[in-house]
Parts: sequence; structure tokens; C-alpha cells
Amino acid sequence: MKPGAEPMARVWSTGMTYSWLSTVRTRRMAPTERGGDGAGGVAGRPAMRHVPVMPEEVLSDLALKPGGIAVDATLGLGGHALRMIDAIRPGGVLVGLDLDTEMLQTARDRIGKPDDIRVELHHQDFRDLRELLQRLGYRADGILFDLGLNTAQVLSPERGFSFLEEGPLDMRMDRSRGEPAAALLGKMTPAQIERVLRDYGDERWARAIAKRIVETRKQRPLKTTRDLVECVLAAIPPKARERRIHPATRTFQAIRILVNGELEGLDLALEDAAGCLAPSGTLAVLSYHSGEDRIVKTAFRKLAQTGFIELHRKPLEPGEEEVARNPRSRSAKLRSLRRTS
Ligand SMILES: C[S@@+](CC[C@H](N)C(=O)[O-])C[C@H]1O[C@@H](n2cnc3c(N)ncnc32)[C@H](O)[C@@H]1O
Repeated sequence: MKPGAEPMARVWSTGMTYSWLSTVRTRRMAPTERGGDGAGGVAGRPAMRHVPVMPEEVLSDLALKPGGIAVDATLGLGGHALRMIDAIRPGGVLVGLDLDTEMLQTARDRIGKPDDIRVELHHQDFRDLRELLQRLGYRADGILFDLGLNTAQVLSPERGFSFLEEGPLDMRMDRSRGEPAAALLGKMTPAQIERVLRDYGDERWARAIAKRIVETRKQRPLKTTRDLVECVLAAIPPKARERRIHPATRTFQAIRILVNGELEGLDLALEDAAGCLAPSGTLAVLSYHSGEDRIVKTAFRKLAQTGFIELHRKPLEPGEEEVARNPRSRSAKLRSLRRTS
């Protein structure tokens, strides 16, 4: 076994069994990951599946009405959007955006062509939402940002987001632009890598992992998710690893945030979105880690001094039952802001 390599099979706290490093792809899939779910899943391939997080709370905050104009700025597979559609029919308008063309296509298929509302789906960055709505001539009654990735993206090995499946080290949501993770990790200095792992992943072993990445790439370039996982496992001593989460979780989160520039301009995007609201319109944001939530909180506090009110003093979080049903919701925080003037 290579230094730092894991035993062949481990049972992780999620209950998933997988063969690590030797046959990463052959881990047994949990039933919820299998295809054939009616949302685009194909037998033998990971399902296009994503369970919308805190749907009741989001819809209650958005308070959409028949004939209303709803915007889903992060459409994903359209789980929240389908509920928004039910709230605005008949006669409303749904505008949906996603950076990822595969997600957009799946959402398009799921939403179909309802004859009682208007649907506008766009391959666009939510940072361009203001221009888009101005061009379309809409002011929104409700806007949702459900930040980060959806399960379908994580479960597609070829996208390179998963530390459980071997795939190219890509991690771009929009594969038509930007540089894949492999290219960035091939040229960053150890100090830059360390900083990203610390700032975006709260990784305590940031320095050791950065050092290992740079040492490894002197021998051969990092090309796959497995290459990155091997660096992490070689850098964190087994005794120091958290049992609750996979050792590569924080590293993959941090690199993904870097690759997609997820936090850059998020504050401005939220301010712009708030400016697109009709009177009494609501902006709801679901965030999944402390870096994101800090930006949302700060942006909302600022907006609350200029004609908006926050609907909750503290962010709403999912209940125990939802977390048990949908573990991905565990870290979610919902903040909502309403236009008062
Ligand atoms: C958590 S998922 C949304 C899931 C969705 N609410 C559902 O119920 O299916 C987030 C989605 O936002 C997209 N996304 C992330 N950053 C984006 C951005 N800057 N502009 C547009 N879409 C983005 C991702 O590609 C992903 O599909």
C-alpha cells in the first residue's frame, strides 16, 4: 500500500460502502443514488436527483400568488421551481437561471410547457440577473437563490465534484468557461493553495495538503479526483481525521468554490436581486456553509437599512425530520428579505 493509502474497503458514516483508491468506482450505490427516478436518472448511471431543501419554508417566505412573477436564480433540477409554478398559476411568469447546461436541460424537461403560465429558462449567471430582468421587463414578486451544487452534479463522476467517484479533476459548473481544478492546482503556489483550503474549507491541515499537492505534481500532474484524494489522505494522519465526514470533504468544497468563483460578487448579486423586487416582493436565500452565510447576512443587514426588512431575526434551519430524510439539508440556512417600499 502507498503511504497514506486507505484500507481497501471502508464503511463511512453515511452507511455507504466503497472500495477506496483501488476501485473507487465500484462502491455500492445507496438506493437513493440509483437511476430510474423519473427525473432523468438512467439505469447504471447516477440519478439526476436532488431533493429541494426546506421547500415549505421557502414557499411560505416567498408568499407567491396566482399571476405573480417568480425567479429561481439557481434552477438546478427545478425542484423549487415546480413548487413556485404551482403558487403562481394561473397566469404567472417563472424565470429560471442556471450556469450548468445539463441542469438547465433537465429542469426544462421536468417543467415542460405549462399552458397556464409563462416560463423563461436561461443559461445565465445569477450575477447578470438584473440585466436579464430589465431586458424581459419584469419586476419580481419572489426570487430564490439556492446556493452551491445540487446532488445530481455531485453524483456525476465525469464532473469531478465527488471524492467518492473517480473522474477528471474539473469541478466547473459551467464547462464552457473558466479553468478546471486540475489546471488551477497545476499552477498555484503552495501558499495560495493553503489559503484557499483555509478560507473556503476551514481545513486545519491546509498547509500539509498544499505541500503534498505541490510535491505530487513535481512527479506527475494531478488529473483525477483520485489524485487529489490521495494527496489529502497522505497529508492528514489517520488519527487526526474526523470520523463524521470524509477527510477530503473540506478540500473538495474549497477547490470547488475557487474553481467557480462562488463567493466572488455574491454580495452584489444579492443587492442587485433585491433591487429587482416589486413592492412587497421577497428575496429568499439558502446557503450551505459559513462563508456563504456570512456574505448573505452582511448583505441583508445592509439592505435592511434601505427599504427592506428581514423576515427572520435568525436564519431558519431544517428540522430533524428533514435532515433525516435529506441529509444534504443538514447545513442549510434560510434568510429572507422583503421590500417594504
Ligand atoms: C443547490 S442547486 C439548486 C437546486 C434547486 N433549487 C432544485 O430544487 O432542484 C444550485 C444550482 O445553482 C447553480 N448555480 C450555482 N452558481 C450559479 C450562478 N452563479 N448562476 C446561476 N446558477 C448557478 C448550480 O449549477 C446548481 O444547479
